Amino acid sequence: MFRRIGGRLKSNGYPEPCRRINHDPETHAHIMKLRQAILTSVGRKALMALSGVMLSLFLFAHGAGNAVAFLGSEALNSYAAKLHSLSFAVIFFECVLLAAFVLHILLGMSLFLENSQARPVRYQVERSSAQRTPGSRTMPYSGVVILIFIAVHLVNFHFTDRSIPAAELVRKVLRQPFYVFFHISAMAVLALHISHGFWSLFQSLGLSHPKYDAALKNSTLGLALLLSALFIVIPLCTLFIDEFLL
Ligand code: HEM
Repeated sequence: MFRRIGGRLKSNGYPEPCRRINHDPETHAHIMKLRQAILTSVGRKALMALSGVMLSLFLFAHGAGNAVAFLGSEALNSYAAKLHSLSFAVIFFECVLLAAFVLHILLGMSLFLENSQARPVRYQVERSSAQRTPGSRTMPYSGVVILIFIAVHLVNFHFTDRSIPAAELVRKVLRQPFYVFFHISAMAVLALHISHGFWSLFQSLGLSHPKYDAALKNSTLGLALLLSALFIVIPLCTLFIDEFLL
């Protein structure tokens, strides 16, 4: 009886090593190691952290950019116009951001499914009761809320009439009480998500230590609250201060 050759099985029924164009054993070993690392949950967590860092950098930059609103409508409009004039760089940056975003979601989903399918062995139960926080327990759900927020946000701010000056656009959207309520609720969820995200980033990088863990946890929570507060203050000012961004 013939078995598949060149696919996966030899005539004796044992798997045959894949035929490759590059036969350099060292390169092959490196590729296999990298593949193995990505497939392990530690590797996926590291990639999750890396994509999380890129998304956080965007959030800090976006927060800083939005803070120009406090300097008035002219400052915000000229900042937005300058940003749009860097068209090629902006498109490149948007592609990188989208890739990091998709990677973050896919890896998050795969880790979540893997965790929920895993048999609850004893040490995991002990670990969960001792170390899990509201942030860590709700990561997939808070992630879904943020995804919905971003979809609505992009419809309002990105896939819209781009000829409207930025300050006018912000006023048009953020003077709607229902939208501001939705926005602020989403920012509370964002704070929960990124506070755990920042904390687990330090853990993934091996930078946590029992001696400093409490301080680190408080600092990451503080940073997350600060960032979310910035994203909350602007809609509040726009809604309640009539002359804001006029
Ligand atoms: C005070 C709150 C916020 C305001 C006023 C605001 C405003 C804006 C504006 C005006 C744009 C369009 C930029 C442009 O194309 O010229 C934009 C894009 C965007 N915003 Fe926000 N934003 C806020 C918070 C957030 C938050 C919290 C997130 C994420 C969780 C977010 C994610 C995005 C993304 C992904 C884009 C598309 C980026 C791009 O066009 O390259 N924004 N935002």
